[in-house]
Amino acid sequence: MLAVSINSVPPAEVGTALLFVALPENPNLSGIAGLDAATQGALTRSIEMKDFRGSRDEMLHLTGIVKGPRRLILLGLGVVTDRRAAFKRAATLAARNANRLGVGEMVWYSGQITPEETESITIGLIAGSWEYADLKSPAPEAERKKPLERAVILTSNTDDSRKGLAGGQAIGSGQSLARRLAMMPGNLCTPEYLAETAADIAKRYSMGITVLGRKEMEAERMGSFLAVAQGTPQEPKLIVLEYKGGKPNAKPIVLVGKGLCFDSGGISIKPAQGMEFMKFDMCGGAGVLGTFEALGQMQPALNVIGIVGATTNMPSGTAMNPGDVVKAQNGKSIEIINTDAEGRLVLADCLSYAKRFDPDVVIDAATLTGACVIALGHTASGVFSSDDALVAEILAAGKRAGEPAWPLPLWDDYKELIKSDVADVKNSGGRPAGAVTAAMFLKEFAEGYPWAHLDIAGTAYSETDLVTIPKGPTGVPTGMFIEFIRGRVR
Ligand code: BES
Ligand code: MN
Ligand code: ZN
Repeated sequence: MLAVSINSVPPAEVGTALLFVALPENPNLSGIAGLDAATQGALTRSIEMKDFRGSRDEMLHLTGIVKGPRRLILLGLGVVTDRRAAFKRAATLAARNANRLGVGEMVWYSGQITPEETESITIGLIAGSWEYADLKSPAPEAERKKPLERAVILTSNTDDSRKGLAGGQAIGSGQSLARRLAMMPGNLCTPEYLAETAADIAKRYSMGITVLGRKEMEAERMGSFLAVAQGTPQEPKLIVLEYKGGKPNAKPIVLVGKGLCFDSGGISIKPAQGMEFMKFDMCGGAGVLGTFEALGQMQPALNVIGIVGATTNMPSGTAMNPGDVVKAQNGKSIEIINTDAEGRLVLADCLSYAKRFDPDVVIDAATLTGACVIALGHTASGVFSSDDALVAEILAAGKRAGEPAWPLPLWDDYKELIKSDVADVKNSGGRPAGAVTAAMFLKEFAEGYPWAHLDIAGTAYSETDLVTIPKGPTGVPTGMFIEFIRGRVR
């Protein structure tokens, strides 16, 4: 991961291969007179000639500076309403470009910044430099570019800035881990691998860990989770991490993640087109693990439990069939209408399992429905809860994290759609309100504690290359989980 540090040298004097100067729309040069002088007025002229206007994502690359930075890129912030969001976006873009240029290191300057802004910039720089190259052969020596390994943020070296830097590094580590796990192909990122990753986190930060396999889940009578896992030869894993930063008797926040390392749909098999994206069906679980990586570094004063339901959904002679009825841990019977509605089956037993921790609140995150993508696109995650205050808290956390969410209903009127002829509930209500009926199904199992569900099917990964996010995982819901937790520290 990118190593970010802070330094208080003036931008005109910093010896670097590449300096980014972030400026708002219609910039004035009062803050960077020194730099303007070092470029013999190139900055003033660029702005006067309107080569650079400071519009969002705009970049102007200048070279030929005699001393100080060897390259300078003016980077537009646009009209800034939310400074943290604008800096994060620009820093992501800066690091992405520095990585492409192959210069190995970069420096960021954006005038006076607060510790919180330092944190946002750090998060952006780490996100922008993130890539998954583990499985590619290295390019021939002559064409090889240096990956971006170091970045320096210019700011006054106060203790507070260091706190901002540390927070950004923790969140950046969590998001980078979540993205790596998500990007790893299903044959490498198996339920077993997720369990090993959790064990590694637990070991490094002295957290508690429990992993249930098939046998242990049978003993727990988790017939719903096991119905999904019965079609795969891989050992399913119910992974539980326990972070204890609060008082021993303080009720924990419980985070639950869907961890389908591959979802073929099972007997209700998916079409071949785009099926490869279903390696991303563990992004909820990856977000839980990423959050625990960050928790280990941040050590906030409260208790958090993470639960990941990890398996794959495969068609086979032993797989569950449409029409089958299974019994979940909480005793409810489920008619399986569609084996591709497997995430809710896995989460049902994870949510029942959560109850033993006497949670203060439970939030689950899952790439649960294509219907949520239709409803909210790739911009916002869906939030479902009967607790309006909890919804507001989650929306605010998402906003702070730059991972927006938006509420969808969870009204009893929708329950009708998942009534079964033979069982207590069925696992698919068909196409109408597909994201809502999935949440309504989960509600049957999230009993005895305040609960919210996040549908991240549209936000956890991108199928196309975007300005700040390359094709692949976004890190969602890691940032929102961390902000939610932070918001509850008193
Ligand atoms: N993992 C999918 C949901 C999904 C779809 C995630 C697209 C990301 C992008 C989930 O397991 C699924 O297949 N859901 C079905 C439910 C249906 C059968 C009731 C869906 O959304 O079509
Ligand atoms: Mn599915
Ligand atoms: Zn799925």
